[in-house]
Amino acid sequence: MTRKLRQAQGNWVDGDRFWGREGDIRILTQMIDDGAHISLVAQRRMGKTSLMKELARLLSNRYVCLYLDLQKESVPADAIAELALVLKPHKSLWEKGLGLFANALKTVVGSLEEVSYADIGIKLRAGLDSGNWIEKGDALFRILSKSEKPVLLMIDELPLMVNRMLREGGEGITQENIRQVDRFMSWLRKNSIEHQGKVRIMLSGSIGLEPVLHQAGLSAVINNYQPYDLKPWNDETAVGCLRALANHEEVIFEENAELAMVEKLGCCIPHHVQIFFACVHKFCVYRDDMRLTVAEVNELYETEMLGLRGHAELTHYEERLSMYFEKDRLPLVKAILTETSVSGILTAPVILVLREEYASSESCPDEALAEMLRILQHDGYLRKKCDGYVYESNLLRDWWKKAHEEFYTRRK
Ligand SMILES: Nc1ncnc2c1ncn2[C@@H]1O[C@H](COP(=O)(O)OP(=O)(O)OP(=O)(O)O)[C@@H](O)[C@H]1O
Ligand SMILES: [Mg+2]
Repeated sequence: MTRKLRQAQGNWVDGDRFWGREGDIRILTQMIDDGAHISLVAQRRMGKTSLMKELARLLSNRYVCLYLDLQKESVPADAIAELALVLKPHKSLWEKGLGLFANALKTVVGSLEEVSYADIGIKLRAGLDSGNWIEKGDALFRILSKSEKPVLLMIDELPLMVNRMLREGGEGITQENIRQVDRFMSWLRKNSIEHQGKVRIMLSGSIGLEPVLHQAGLSAVINNYQPYDLKPWNDETAVGCLRALANHEEVIFEENAELAMVEKLGCCIPHHVQIFFACVHKFCVYRDDMRLTVAEVNELYETEMLGLRGHAELTHYEERLSMYFEKDRLPLVKAILTETSVSGILTAPVILVLREEYASSESCPDEALAEMLRILQHDGYLRKKCDGYVYESNLLRDWWKKAHEEFYTRRK
């Protein structure tokens, strides 16, 4: 019987909402068992967080799996407080961890079981500052290394925190900011080496860590992590996912409409597969006919995926460009993306024309241009093809084109 899959809800998925990734799970489990530190790399919405959550679920009988999300953290002391907090489900580690903060927790009235998690978080954070986070962080790692089961520490959104630290103060990437990031990343590196075999670290994030560190000349601080490139689903996996979702929701694909959906997307980023399905499902339920044809797929792609719904899902691709690129570089970056979407392929001569128009070879030398294209590739916007660059995803290409072509004249 064909499997049924429940639709995703919220951010990440695991268990009965998780699809595919068997090969990735096999390889990553082997790397983890070998004691490797891993940097999980992929563009947005590829399913990094879901994969980490699913791995944690599958490996929790053999490892203490800790999931640390640094999305909101701005300074190392925040991260250390968060690290102490995620020990909560593991009683003995939690008690030992809290022991490090006895002074800060002294003022807690009543037993710790009665105090809310958020309140403990506030107290822990109050016990940390720029002078003692290294010492407390080292002590936490020592506790982890003595745990009965080996520890798998998954750190999500580290690049967001590092990026925030690098730009702290609003004056761009200053030497002082670089120094702070170096201090934090070197501390993590030191502990990862010292406790190798006992603690495995897996890093990930919705923006790439390497390009962020590269801007500050700090790439070397992660050279002890083995990169693992999480790829889009292949067509077979995406088609299987659509069939399993349809099976669960009682959608009937006519004329192999699911194949047309995969063809439209071009690059099967799991999230895009899911939102496309959610869109056709809603359409079927609304008109009270669950049979879906290829013509309807094509129509929904144009009106919904590239329309308002897709708009909300895809604008982050535009917004986050300003995380990587300085303000004065953005017009050139956007022109590069618009030109590629309109022409289909971006060639070297056209790139040079755009540079002259939107910057100049003095303000944007060849190396800066190469770096720009490197980031756009690393982050899944473009890929190299024969004599130029093309979009990685048809969806992103078609959406960008629709959003930007109106007042754009194609360069030759
Ligand atoms: N293995 C999977 N099975 C089913 N759906 C998935 C899977 N992986 C990802 N998805 C879909 O993609 C969405 C985003 O997943 P997730 O948050 O794990 O991606 P991410 O790469 O961590 O994203 P971000 O770059 O924003 O951090 C999920 O809500 C779900 O719809
Ligand atoms: Mg994520």
